[in-house]
Amino acid sequence: MSVTLVSALVLLATVLFMVAALIGAINKIAPDDGSRKEVAVLDRIKPVARVSFAQPKPAGAVKMTGQEVYNKVCSACHATGALGAPKVGAKDQWEPRVAQGLDTLITHATTGIRAMPPKGGDPSLTEANLKDALVYMLGETGIKVDAAPAAEAPK
Ligand code: HEC
Repeated sequence: MSVTLVSALVLLATVLFMVAALIGAINKIAPDDGSRKEVAVLDRIKPVARVSFAQPKPAGAVKMTGQEVYNKVCSACHATGALGAPKVGAKDQWEPRVAQGLDTLITHATTGIRAMPPKGGDPSLTEANLKDALVYMLGETGIKVDAAPAAEAPK
């Protein structure tokens, strides 16, 4: 009888020891200072989606026709002749300039010349924009020029 009792006590002691060891092990895993809960909360309330704004397109990436470039930028001076700009429609004002060659005019439009600001004041314009706008202005003036890009024109 007493052997059974001793066995039962030993078994009980063993079980208690194991439970204690288990609790010790659990406590050792990671003391929670509240950060675990905080992370869980932050995770739960995080936005469902994020809106990211597209990077601004590189200069000139927006394709505009010569007319659009003219309306947006060049017309400010070239429609009225403001600051002494050669006026669209005034053939006599453009002809001596065209005589310099289209490439020279594009260069001047790019770098600016006297009261003409570089690129008409819009640095986002490409050389192609300037050329298209110039060809458009000359066309409106009644001066026909070879509209093909210089690189493609037969020499
Ligand atoms: C702020 C006013 C202004 C704007 C905007 C402007 N221009 Fe001009 N532009 C001028 C003036 C002034 C001249 C005359 C400069 C001179 O010869 O003294 C001129 C001259 C020119 C010439 C002749 C250059 C030469 O060598 O004779 C070209 C080509 C030209 N502009 C193209 C453009 C184009 C293309 C745009 C639009 C992208 C533009 N301009 C926008 C004022 C302007």
